[in-house]
Amino acid sequence: MNETRRAILERIADGPVSGPDVAESLEVSRAAVWKHIEALREAGFEIESGPTGYELTDVTVYNGPAVEYGLEAPFSVDYHDSVGSTNDRARELATDGASDVAVLADEQTGGRGRLEREWSSPAGGVWLSIVSRPVIAPARAPLYTLAASVATARAAREAGVDARIKWPNDVVVPVDDDGSYRKLAGILTEMEGETDRIEWLVVGIGVNANIDDSELPPEATSVRAEAGDVDRRAFVQRVLEEFDRYRNDLEAVVPAWRDLALTLGQRVRVDRPSGEIVGEAVDVTDSGALVVDTGEEQVTVAAGDCE
Ligand code: BTN
Repeated sequence: MNETRRAILERIADGPVSGPDVAESLEVSRAAVWKHIEALREAGFEIESGPTGYELTDVTVYNGPAVEYGLEAPFSVDYHDSVGSTNDRARELATDGASDVAVLADEQTGGRGRLEREWSSPAGGVWLSIVSRPVIAPARAPLYTLAASVATARAAREAGVDARIKWPNDVVVPVDDDGSYRKLAGILTEMEGETDRIEWLVVGIGVNANIDDSELPPEATSVRAEAGDVDRRAFVQRVLEEFDRYRNDLEAVVPAWRDLALTLGQRVRVDRPSGEIVGEAVDVTDSGALVVDTGEEQVTVAAGDCE
């Protein structure tokens, strides 16, 4: 968001401030203040103008300026009403040198899931891709994915959903004590780099937020179905803030992940590139790999699909 507009919003957030006072404190003309106020109203900020001045009364929209406003994490937001895939858009921005950009869309027309699956992305969901340029060894990149699943599960829990994490990074809601679940959110991480260096990393997060069951695959659930509609602006802000916190404290990711894990202690079947293994999921290593006890040995699985 334009710096002057952000400063105006901050100035008028806690009560009415007169146009001349705003103009003076920001060292711009009164006419400029008026134009910025009009532009902010256009962008969906509800600003009342009374006898004592302008006052921000509500932010009800879901768009880039609204998500950036009040966000306590250093991301700019690239918002689209509709886009093919936020991950594709984020990859373009990353290739052009961008960092700390959150690409957000109301709807995706070509949403992509892991293992080249389609990802149903109707309007009302949270379709988010975060561009980072982390200075870490590529082997630690899975921690970014786990950080995203922790951030998403936390935001969902704050919205009233009993969200848990299924290794490696599905955010699910348990259906029964037997380990069955419905999927609430998925994460698709893509990166570019060399063996010892990450050029850029895109973490794509898809959350079935305010979506009807009829628009979702049968094994999925939504925030709407679990807890009622969520304020997507606040939800995305929480995801970005938590993600930022954990990417800056990677040592804290696995302990936080363990607290939310559905997988640990359960019998799992893991499809690895080198073949399937079956056993009990007993732990997650410091780099995010799953430790499976097959009864004969403990096998550490860095990547795969787990049932
Ligand atoms: C999965 O298969 O579980 C991962 C799904 C990831 C979907 C998200 S939605 C936002 C971003 N854009 C995409 O095209 N995919 C990811």
